[in-house]
Amino acid sequence: MLNRLLALALTVMTLGQGVVAGFEDEMSLGGYLFLVNKDYRIAADYVPDDLVMPDVKRTSGSVMMRKEAARALEQMFEAAKEEKINLVAASGYRSYQTQRAIYNRRLKAAGKAHVDRFVALPGASEHQLGLAMDVTRPKTDGLSRSFGQTKEGQWLLKNCYRFGFILRYKEEWEDVTGYGYEPWHIRYVGAEHALRIQEWDVPFETYVEALRAAQGMTAEQKEAAE
Ligand code: DAL
Ligand code: ZN
Repeated sequence: MLNRLLALALTVMTLGQGVVAGFEDEMSLGGYLFLVNKDYRIAADYVPDDLVMPDVKRTSGSVMMRKEAARALEQMFEAAKEEKINLVAASGYRSYQTQRAIYNRRLKAAGKAHVDRFVALPGASEHQLGLAMDVTRPKTDGLSRSFGQTKEGQWLLKNCYRFGFILRYKEEWEDVTGYGYEPWHIRYVGAEHALRIQEWDVPFETYVEALRAAQGMTAEQKEAAE
C-alpha cells in the first residue's frame, strides 16, 4: 500500500510542483477536495455559501448542492437522458442538524451495526459539504444495494467521472472509507480529479493521501520511490 501511495504521489508530481501546491487550497474546507469521513469531521456550523437547487428530476428529499456541483449534476442527468437513462436525485445537502436527525432515526429503526456502516454521524457526512448526492431511479422505494445492478446504477458507475463525480463507497473499499457499499452516493471533486481517481480506481482517502504525500515528499523519498 505504501509503495502504491508513493507511486500515486509521484504521478501527481509529474503535474509539476506549482500545480501540486495549488491542491492545498482545494483540500481545505470550501475546496472541492475536502475530505470528510469518520476521522475528518466538519464543524457543526459549516454551511456552504453557494447552495442552489439543481434543475433535475428529484424525489421529495432536499437536493440542494453547491453551484458548480449542481451544474455538473444537471449536465450528467441530461447526458444520461440522451442515452435513455433516467436518474433521480434523492438527497443532496444536509445540515449538521438534519444529519443528526437522520442518524438518530436510523439508529432507532435499524440499530447500531447498520448506522455504523451506512449513516455518518453529524459532522462526518459529505452531505454537509453540499458536494454529495444520493442518486436513484424512478419508481423505487428508497436506496438499496440492488441499484448497483440496474442500468441506471451501472451508467452512474461508468460515467459520473466525466462530470466531476466519483462513486465514493465501493464494496471493496469498506476498510478504507469506513462505510459499506453505497452505489447511489456520488461526490463532486471536479472533472480533473475525478478522471484521475477513476483511472487509478482508488478510494478518495487514498487519493488525498497521495496528494498530501506529493506535497511533503523530500528528494530522497522521490528517489526511493522511483
Ligand atoms: N451515507 C453516508 C455515509 C452519509 O451518511 O454521509
Ligand atoms: Zn449519500
